[in-house]
Amino acid sequence: MESSAFSARLRTWYQHARRDLPWRDVNDPFRIWLSEVILQQTRVDQGLAYYHRFIDAFPDVDSLAAATEEEVLRLWQGLGYYSRGRNLLKAARQVRDQFGGKFPSEYQKLKQLAGVGDYTAAAIASFAFGLPHAVVDGNVYRVISRYAGVDLPIDSGEGKKVFSEMANALLDPDHAAEHNQAMMELGAMVCKPRQPDCKVCPLSSSCAALAGNRIHELPVKAGRQLVKTVRMICFFVEDGISTWIRRREGKGIWQGLHEFPA
Ligand code: ADE
Repeated sequence: MESSAFSARLRTWYQHARRDLPWRDVNDPFRIWLSEVILQQTRVDQGLAYYHRFIDAFPDVDSLAAATEEEVLRLWQGLGYYSRGRNLLKAARQVRDQFGGKFPSEYQKLKQLAGVGDYTAAAIASFAFGLPHAVVDGNVYRVISRYAGVDLPIDSGEGKKVFSEMANALLDPDHAAEHNQAMMELGAMVCKPRQPDCKVCPLSSSCAALAGNRIHELPVKAGRQLVKTVRMICFFVEDGISTWIRRREGKGIWQGLHEFPA
């Protein structure tokens, strides 16, 4: 299928199947950025509550930039990967101090912000500014690898490069925002990891994996990351009124978080 036909079919499907989510149909880069950072950590149903709490506490980039790290981490609590929470504050301060309080509208400048990589920069550039950059997240890898029947590992350098090029070739530059939202929505709601709903998929008639009965073989992952087990002994010390906790000082993923002495 021509890429313009691909995009048109995808977007037509999206227009009637889409979920109403508060960060859609806004073009405020602050809200878009915040939602995308949260959604890299959790699913939409959980992410919604975090998003609303952040927006209630910090309705714009200036108010977030003026926050303390403790305030931000408290709202981030439960999302994990706390360096992302810390980067949220760093990026807000960069916007205030280096970009005059306004999110930059260029992809390369967006990537200068703490924690903003290819994915988040493409999301902000397309959703807020309509720029033709394809988002490539886990949903997009899945849709494209199945649609095109490509078995390059999505966690290899070559795979990442090839899928990103394909995603950009399929993007309709005149409808970048809607196209990107639609790709992610299709991956989340139809082209699901385990039980994809191919009967309702707008791309099924041209899907290589469906035709070749390879849906469950794609996408391919080269290797899982090793999980490190950490064993700790914690002390629960209390005097009937208070409990002893402390803040972790050292570097690492738990930097700045509270713990029982361990
Ligand atoms: N997952 C990541 N970004 C998303 C978005 N903008 N809408 C829905 N799900 C998402």
